[in-house]
Amino acid sequence: MEKIKLKEQTMEFKLNGTTINYEGDPELSLMTYLRDVEEIISPKDGCAPEGVCGCCSVLLDGNVLKACIAPMRRIAGKEVITMEGLDPGKKETVINAFAIEGGLQCGFCTPGIIMKVWPLLNQGFVTEKEINKALNSNLCRCTGYKKVTKSCLSAAEALRNNAKIELPQSSGKVGESLPKYDSLRLATGEAPYVADLKFEGMVHGAMKFSDHPRAKVLKINTSVA
Ligand code: FES
Ligand code: FES
Repeated sequence: MEKIKLKEQTMEFKLNGTTINYEGDPELSLMTYLRDVEEIISPKDGCAPEGVCGCCSVLLDGNVLKACIAPMRRIAGKEVITMEGLDPGKKETVINAFAIEGGLQCGFCTPGIIMKVWPLLNQGFVTEKEINKALNSNLCRCTGYKKVTKSCLSAAEALRNNAKIELPQSSGKVGESLPKYDSLRLATGEAPYVADLKFEGMVHGAMKFSDHPRAKVLKINTSVA
């Protein structure tokens, strides 16, 4: 049988400051490339390829892009920045703002949210309305938006004043308030979720529902099982 030949494209782009020579399917999504080829798991797969949750947001030439709906051909000659490529000092300030203001819980949506507001946070003054408008296309299923907005405003103010936001030190005694546990790894997207795990020899399973849900099962052919 004739093998299906995938379309290939050779192109160059920058990823977090490094020049990449890409040779492959021009229709492959940037999110799949980042997660499966580069093993950068900060863009999370929340709804691919629907493009509605914003969890996979990255920057393309400084503009926010949902990586799950961006084919590789769109990246040619451009620069992609993920969470890993952000200015480390500014990133720490933003993450600490989220940790202190309670702007994250499970953290799945947080890297995408931070990438989405990053240009706004760095533009100088930003209003609550601008933040909320930007977050219209980012879904958070457990924190809600009030604390996320508060975190963004706090981070923006610190960045504007060239100030740092430090996490409070704590002795861990009962009654002391602590910042969110593991917030750094969650907010940067380093903390792996189920879809981020990879093991040698790992196999994937998929649910297959019956095409005839009301049928009476008379016999099951297990010969291929
Ligand atoms: S995974 Fe890309 S928008 Fe949801
Ligand atoms: S923090 Fe859990 S979905 Fe947003």
